[in-house]
Amino acid sequence: MAGTLITGANGQLGKSLRKIADKMPGKLFFTDIEELDICNRDAVNDYIKSGDIDLIVNCAAYTAVDKAEDEPEMAAMINSGAAGILAEAARNNGALLLHVSTDYVFDGKGPRPYKESDGTAPASVYGKTKLAGEKAIEKSGCRYIIIRTAWLYSEDGNNFLKTIIRLAGEKDVINVVFDQTGTPTYAGDLANAISEIVSHKDDSEFCKKAENKIYHFSNEGVCSWYDFALEIVEMSNISTVRVEPVTSEQFVSKATRPAYSVLDKGLIKSIYCLNIPHWKSSLEKCINSLNNIK
Ligand SMILES: NC(=O)c1ccc[n+]([C@@H]2O[C@H](COP(=O)([O-])OP(=O)(O)OC[C@H]3O[C@@H](n4cnc5c(N)ncnc54)[C@H](OP(=O)(O)O)[C@@H]3O)[C@@H](O)[C@H]2O)c1
Repeated sequence: MAGTLITGANGQLGKSLRKIADKMPGKLFFTDIEELDICNRDAVNDYIKSGDIDLIVNCAAYTAVDKAEDEPEMAAMINSGAAGILAEAARNNGALLLHVSTDYVFDGKGPRPYKESDGTAPASVYGKTKLAGEKAIEKSGCRYIIIRTAWLYSEDGNNFLKTIIRLAGEKDVINVVFDQTGTPTYAGDLANAISEIVSHKDDSEFCKKAENKIYHFSNEGVCSWYDFALEIVEMSNISTVRVEPVTSEQFVSKATRPAYSVLDKGLIKSIYCLNIPHWKSSLEKCINSLNNIK
């Protein structure tokens, strides 16, 4: 039986895929940088050939948005160079590459939710390197599906949810920007969507219409980081902290982030008949699961 390679499997999305491994097709190979460095062309080629891999789910990335401003070469090597390496290996072995990208490919000046066909203009090193990764895959000639997602969080790793919960235990007041609008995405929901998407990989008629496209995926709904933080504090029953709205100008960060990056999910919902939860219900689910882990 052909195998599925999951790269970056110790990250947020990778761990969420591990939790639903029974829903994924074929023999699964979960790897992170220790087992398979996706920047190593020979290692990637050997792995895919010897494992009889016909599906690669690339969860590996350089995701430190601010740090990327100081490490552009490293971010480019992982987010674009390695995406190209995986695409080339997928093409040479007839495998499907499912790759994950970001809402930060947009400049955030749009007046409505971004469609996949809207013009890109990333303002940060992270966004630029992720966009270059998309382009490398598109021009490689491999079979691909690219999913742009946004504001990813989960029970694992470092993310906004966990930062707010930590800060709420340390401070009386937390300042959070209210002039950046988007939609949070629970990695568990993205993992479920990925398992649904790849379940069609052997249906050649379906693949003809569904593959070689970019899709947008986030939870339903729209909010600011401030709204998100407020909801985290309320749902976690933390009453000792006040969340204060501030502007991006007041909250200085190295990388410029889009002011508006809501993603239009019409295409992925119509092609894959996905029923996507609202961000608040998924947040509640994640907080409950964090409380159960404690
Ligand atoms: N996080 C977000 O808010 C967000 C938003 C939009 C889109 N996305 C995209 O969603 C995808 C999943 O993000 P995530 O939050 O799950 O990322 P993550 O938690 O940062 O996980 C990425 C994983 O990739 C690993 N990795 C880094 N370099 C590697 C290499 N050369 N070879 C193999 N593995 C390597 C990392 O290991 P180390 O930890 O050791 O470096 C880490 O385990 C990424 O494509 C990301 O760009 C994320």
